[in-house]
Amino acid sequence: MNPVIDAIRSRRTVKKMDTERSPTKDQIDAIIEAAMWAPNHHMTEPWRFVVVSGQGRRRLGEALAAASLSGPGERPVPERVEIERSKPLAAPVIVALISSPQVGEKIVPQEELIAAGAALQNMLLAAHSLGLGSFVRTGLLAYSDEVRHLFGINEREVLVGMVYLGYVAGPVTPGRRSPAEGKVTWMES
Ligand SMILES: Cc1cc2nc3c(=O)[nH]c(=O)nc-3n(C[C@H](O)[C@H](O)[C@H](O)COP(=O)(O)O)c2cc1C
Repeated sequence: MNPVIDAIRSRRTVKKMDTERSPTKDQIDAIIEAAMWAPNHHMTEPWRFVVVSGQGRRRLGEALAAASLSGPGERPVPERVEIERSKPLAAPVIVALISSPQVGEKIVPQEELIAAGAALQNMLLAAHSLGLGSFVRTGLLAYSDEVRHLFGINEREVLVGMVYLGYVAGPVTPGRRSPAEGKVTWMES
């Protein structure tokens, strides 16, 4: 068995976490370090992180609730707003990964975002290897002005994902992927 491929295949999105048992600071540091070892062109290291825990999760919930009220379309029912407000309380720690591209003649914006995506996967795999569950949350409200303001996301930056982290406390949906056939073309001549 190959431990890296095994880890890639056995990692799963974990939605039910033990909110009473937080990952340690060392674990969170290790997960962020792993993110920073992602490949990146021109060594721009185009990422930054906001660690949200404790009452910080309530501030994030307030931002999501406010975004649900200020967004386009019909005003959401109060229950919907409450759901948004409580979402960050589902994990003891959330690490927001922000793509923070550099600007320069040789720098391709798309590559900066791709590098941050690689950093995201490193975080999930590092968490898995430490015995932690993880869950990436995004969505329209996550990209809202309210959340951008909370995380200090400037006009060049973009939220890649909010990585919910914690010990697994419930059933996990089995993994499912299509076979490679149909998605792979071999060019041998
Ligand atoms: C960039 C990104 C954003 C995601 N945002 C959400 C989200 O907002 N809500 C959600 O339920 N899952 C989200 N996911 C997780 C996917 O739903 C999940 O990876 C997918 O269902 C496959 O399950 P697995 O991770 O167990 O393989 C996101 C994943 C990525 C990579």
